[in-house]
Formats: sequence, structure tokens, C-alpha cells
Amino acid sequence: MAQDSYPTPEDARSLHRWFPTRWRDHELLDCGNGKRLERFGDLVLIRPEPHAIWAPGLSEQEWRGMAAAEFAPTGRTKGHWMPLQSVPDNWEIQYPLASGNSLHFSLEMTRFKHVGIFPEQGANWDWIADRLGPGKRMLNLFAYTGGASLAARAAGAEVTHVDAIKQVVTWTRMNMELSGLEGIRWCVEDALKFTEREARRGNTYDLIVMDPPSWGLGPKGEKWKLEDQVLRLIEAAASVVAPGGAVIMNTYSGLSPSTLQNLWQSALPDAAMEAGELCLKSGTGQILPTGSLLRAVRP
Ligand SMILES: C[S@@+](CC[C@H](N)C(=O)[O-])C[C@H]1O[C@@H](n2cnc3c(N)ncnc32)[C@H](O)[C@@H]1O
Repeated sequence: MAQDSYPTPEDARSLHRWFPTRWRDHELLDCGNGKRLERFGDLVLIRPEPHAIWAPGLSEQEWRGMAAAEFAPTGRTKGHWMPLQSVPDNWEIQYPLASGNSLHFSLEMTRFKHVGIFPEQGANWDWIADRLGPGKRMLNLFAYTGGASLAARAAGAEVTHVDAIKQVVTWTRMNMELSGLEGIRWCVEDALKFTEREARRGNTYDLIVMDPPSWGLGPKGEKWKLEDQVLRLIEAAASVVAPGGAVIMNTYSGLSPSTLQNLWQSALPDAAMEAGELCLKSGTGQILPTGSLLRAVRP
């Protein structure tokens, strides 16, 4: 074995777990049997959760007594909601930042089992709000309903929000207005094309946030496939990170934290990096891993 291939104590220690700690309007009440029971504001929902293959802490009767609706999948990504009590078409929750500002989100039960928010991302919103301020620039790629964009804007940063779907951008605009914010730059564009164009123009950002799905389509039918294009995206993104700037990459698509670290180490060899899992802790004590996360800070 060559000397360089011996794992160091740092190699063994360097994976992290991140949890959101400021929620009052979200709670993972329990998880298990392939499902999660969680409260969004006043509404308790049951959704499929492939990671939760252990036994739940509460009984089925207790779950059913609390839940207002359960999502019944009919395919890999689609399905429908079965109401167990009366449910609203949409409702609102808030995420309180340390600054005293609150991010507001309009939620609805979509046919993809999501409700318009990934609550574990609260851990990133705090980091973003802490890091950025007036005069800083953030690029949010695959930005969905924009929690990261709102956190950055609430801190006073200039925000460019890129997502392929116009209706999703309209949803985020509503969240921005509900949060009492304005001035986010909206781009309905293919994330890879946009980033490569920014690199060619020499534009830079103090923070790049990206949450690429395993597959997707740009607005002009551009095909996104994670394994095939992630390296190209990382290379383009690395060239638009300003000196002293940072990257947050997370993915729900099965890339492990060590894989994320290897990908970024070659793109930003001098950056300080942390990789690990974004998690939620349930009221019954289980730690639910929700995705992989990497944070890198350039010198
Ligand atoms: C997993 S969601 C991101 C969740 C988000 N980070 C959050 O925490 O709320 C993936 C998003 O990528 C968008 N998307 C898919 N393919 C895209 C592409 N080629 N270019 C830009 N956005 C794309 C989808 O519309 C969707 O909003």
C-alpha cells in the first residue's frame, strides 16, 4: 500500500450530520414502515419514506388519529392524497431566522407527494443567512420553491434563482411576497446552460447553491441526467465561485457524501470542505437521513 492511500484519522472523522433547529411549524412526529408522519403548521400528513425501513415509534392507530391525509403512491413518483380529515387546498407556514425575519411558504399537497418545502433544508437556510449580507451575490440552481433564495434575500444579498419550471418560479414569487421580500432575479432556464454561460461571461457569485435531481428537463427540453452531467455542472459552477466564496450542493438522488466530496475536491482543490447527511430527528427519537450535503469554502 502506498503511503498516500492510508486513511487518516481525518478521513474517518470528516462526515457530518446536519439538522434544522429553528422550526416551530414543522415536526417529524414519527417514521418507520416506509413512511413518515409529520406536521406542517396545523396539518399532519403521512407520506412514503423509502429510508425509514425500521419499526415506527407510534402505533398505526396513533398515526391515523393524528393525520389529516395520506399520500398513496401509484408509481415511482406520482400518486394521490387520501383525506382522513378535511384538508385545505393550500396553507402557510413560517421558518424563523436568527435575525428575527421569517420565511413564509405557501404549501399544497401536490401529486408528487411533496408539499412545496424540504424542511431539512432549514439547516442550509441558517448557514446562508449567516454567511451572506448586502453586496453579496448568490446563485440558486434547481431552486424549486426557493427557501435558499428567500434566506439569502432576507439577509440582503442579491439573488439569482434558476429553475426550469415557470409555475414553480411563480410559486416562489408568492413565497417571496408572503415573506415581505422583493428583488429576486428569476430565470426560467436550464441550470447547466445558465451556469456555463455565466462562466463564459466571467460572472462570479459569493455562494452557489445547487440541488440537482437525478433527472429533469430544461424549459426547452434540455435533458438533465445527474450521472452524465454532474461533472460538467460542477466544473462550470466552480469557475463562477468568487474568491472567498462558497458552494452548497445537496442531492436527494443517491450520491453519497464521499462521492460529492471527491467530485468537488478536483474542481476546487484548495477549498475547505465538509460533507455529510442532511437529517431530521423524529419526536420518537429516530434520525432520518434525507439527502447528501456538501459545503465548500474557497480561500
Ligand atoms: C429536488 S428539487 C430542488 C429542491 C430545493 N433545493 C429546495 O430545497 O426546495 C429539483 C428542482 O429542479 C428543477 N429542475 C429540473 N431539471 C432542471 C433543469 N434542467 N434546469 C433547471 N431546473 C431544473 C425542478 O423544476 C425542481 O424544481
